[in-house]
Amino acid sequence: MEKVILTGMRPTGTLHIGHYFGVIPELLRLQAKSYKLFLMIADLHALTTLEDSKNLKENTLKLAATYLACGINPQKTIIFVQSQIPEHAELSALLSMITPVSMLELNPTYKEMREEHPKQNNLGLLAYPVLQAADILVYKATHVPVGKDQAPHIEITREIARRFNARFGYVFPEPQTILQKESKIFSLQDPKKKMSKSHKKESYISLLDSAEEIRKKIKIAVTDSGKEIIFNSAKKPAISNLLTIFSLFSKKPIKEVEKMYQGKSYAEFKKDLAEIIIQELTPLQKKYKNLEKNFKNVESALKNGSQKAKEKASATLAEAKKTIGFL
Ligand code: TRP
Repeated sequence: MEKVILTGMRPTGTLHIGHYFGVIPELLRLQAKSYKLFLMIADLHALTTLEDSKNLKENTLKLAATYLACGINPQKTIIFVQSQIPEHAELSALLSMITPVSMLELNPTYKEMREEHPKQNNLGLLAYPVLQAADILVYKATHVPVGKDQAPHIEITREIARRFNARFGYVFPEPQTILQKESKIFSLQDPKKKMSKSHKKESYISLLDSAEEIRKKIKIAVTDSGKEIIFNSAKKPAISNLLTIFSLFSKKPIKEVEKMYQGKSYAEFKKDLAEIIIQELTPLQKKYKNLEKNFKNVESALKNGSQKAKEKASATLAEAKKTIGFL
């Protein structure tokens, strides 16, 4: 069977350096293998936790342009916007008829999201995995690359596919999870937490941060007591995190970086760290700025992608409706 790969990201904030060493290389690897690769900007899902939608359009374009600047090639990868393909919502409605509410209530990310966004208690949040199942099944995706936190959603997707096939007749292959390596980069403000684009700005370095912002964020990043620059994630979680980041950006092993900074101060180390981050991100940011000058081109690349995606989505939806037995 042909491999069909789909993954998605909500346009809630910009990609950061954790993505840069995590999902991005994985996507580029899959793109190079010339599988059928669908890369979706999950703007409907973004609404589940968004308090207002005034930046939605801009964030969608920004995320798309960042992907392109990182090397996603719209000639090879079908990059598209979820809300431009109503088939997702329609299939989601059909799938909701065979999804037990209890399964959704037990979903661990539902509980987490409720805690993180106490003001949001919408049906969309509970039904989040049903829409996600529709995203995946509408392309008959066989493989879904996601982080560990998303694995329960893919499990639910498989369960929904089984239920549909058993109830109405076979339409959907059960997708497999491609588990992404856990990012080793933690928050600059709380090194016990993963770096996340939905936490406060000082806690992550966006791929689009200016040199000034990067210098400032590294400068105010929390450190540990003592003054040695050594890796010890239990005793020195903050410095260990900065060492990890230094090592990734400089492509030098952590041991070597420790040696370079023996007897030097946190301040000196941080200063150099900011500079190597800035240097590495500069080419990407140049590409981004060119795209930003003409967001219309990014918008048309997305329209193009959405058109290609829609062909497949509408064929699957028609097949599902026929199999159910609608007039
Ligand atoms: N829920 C995913 C996340 O927050 C985004 C997403 C939406 C997704 N639909 C998807 C991921 C389908 C993979 C497949 O990261």
